[in-house]
Amino acid sequence: MNARDKVRLGAVADIHCTKNSQNMLRPLFEKMSEEVDILLLCGDLTDYGRPEEAHVLAGELTAVDKPILAVLGNHDYESGHEAEVTEILRTAGVNVLDGDVCEIDGIGFVGVKGFGGGFGRAALEPWGEKAIKRFVQESINEALKLESALARLNTAHTVVLLHYSPIEATIEGETPTLYPYLGSSRLEEPLARYPVTAIFHGHAHKGSPQGYTRNEVPVYNVAMPLLKRLFEGQAPFRILELSLTRHARTSYEQPSEGQI
Ligand SMILES: [Fe+2]
Ligand SMILES: [Fe+2]
Repeated sequence: MNARDKVRLGAVADIHCTKNSQNMLRPLFEKMSEEVDILLLCGDLTDYGRPEEAHVLAGELTAVDKPILAVLGNHDYESGHEAEVTEILRTAGVNVLDGDVCEIDGIGFVGVKGFGGGFGRAALEPWGEKAIKRFVQESINEALKLESALARLNTAHTVVLLHYSPIEATIEGETPTLYPYLGSSRLEEPLARYPVTAIFHGHAHKGSPQGYTRNEVPVYNVAMPLLKRLFEGQAPFRILELSLTRHARTSYEQPSEGQI
């Protein structure tokens, strides 16, 4: 199989870059750039969403000479400067997706942040106070954004970047009372209506690394703290290799030394 027959994705989330992270993230990004063809960063790129943190991250990402796709996380909104953070990262060459799609080497990518709300029968319903309805509406809006982005793609592979989880399985390990804040099964609904190859998310630092949607699509929690704990001593990113010759099927590489 030559290089054009397969594409390697490398994913990580919850980098939480601070103004003191200079030269600390660069080794990770250098390793990712060596090992994979496309980098996926699934939110909480900065710690407080401050522009100075985004500038530090942009500096660290100069180690990368591959395409970088990203979504923001809740931390990137904390200071109210998410538009500036996005602009700094875009200027640094990062394709920040917010209901957007892009296509690289025949693979379609969709990215939205997502939101909380809980899962299944425990999902919060839009009932009662206006504040509850606004909260649920935010969750619905993110799911609609995901749905309309998915509808725009017609590629053999579609890969989805989220910050919040669309399923409960990949947040297991977290305190159950936190589940409503870690994701929403409303995000799973559009994922079940369109052909999707793989889904990456973060946010649940103490969650589980892998689960499946009800359509058996793999969901990877790539929160950096989780990957660091699971694969101690190795670079904390996950690799997914996609075959471009076998329609809509993936071959997943298990972690080996220096790879996750
Ligand atoms: Fe985080
Ligand atoms: Fe988060």
